[in-house]
Amino acid sequence: MRHATDIFSEWALGGKDEGMEKNHSLSVREMLLHLTKNVKTSFSFIDAGCGNGWVVRKMQKNPLCSMAKGVDGAEDMIRKAKAIDPDGDYICADLLKWIPNEKVDFVHSMEVFYYFENPGELINHIKSNWLKPGGKMVMGIDFYEEHERSHSWPTDLGTHMTLLSEAKWVSLFSQNGFYQIENFRANVHDGFPGTLVVSGVLNSL
Ligand SMILES: C[S@@+](CC[C@H](N)C(=O)[O-])C[C@H]1O[C@@H](n2cnc3c(N)ncnc32)[C@H](O)[C@@H]1O
Repeated sequence: MRHATDIFSEWALGGKDEGMEKNHSLSVREMLLHLTKNVKTSFSFIDAGCGNGWVVRKMQKNPLCSMAKGVDGAEDMIRKAKAIDPDGDYICADLLKWIPNEKVDFVHSMEVFYYFENPGELINHIKSNWLKPGGKMVMGIDFYEEHERSHSWPTDLGTHMTLLSEAKWVSLFSQNGFYQIENFRANVHDGFPGTLVVSGVLNSL
């Protein structure tokens, strides 16, 4: 078993990040609309496991976005993000060890959380160290119990993935201090049960 960040560094070198961007774009569109719906004031944003940084660049185009940064543990993904956008804010770090200088309003993450042995630990770390009170996180994943065709991915890719049901992902958000939890499936189509999306808000106190 290899570490996911080593595999994705190779993907960046081989140009596979571009296919990933294309494959994830419809689900991410729904996730970002969900994250920013009803927002009328400026906000700051972090993409956790940003890959080549395409969502950071997408978010920067939102006139209300005051700051967007991306964090990823794959060195060549971050190198690529900086090559595409030299002025952008892209950081190479392990998500569980990294803490931003300033807390943000929104955290987004697509196809990342199941690479962690204990995803609840990451959810708790983001709650405690990344998000402002009242901040919101949205997570999307295609590897989950109800998506049976995804179950072979750890063997196919040769890396650890934590397989949980939709109900368990929702309970991880509530057990780790999130409120107003919502879950839905994005980009459902023929034979694909959709990206499982879970979001939650921190208490504003
Ligand atoms: C399937 S890719 C998704 C990338 C991006 N979110 C996208 O939609 O294109 C998963 C990403 O999570 C990153 N990742 C996995 N484990 C990580 C860790 N422990 N710390 C930081 N990044 C990690 C990988 O390097 C990879 O770029």
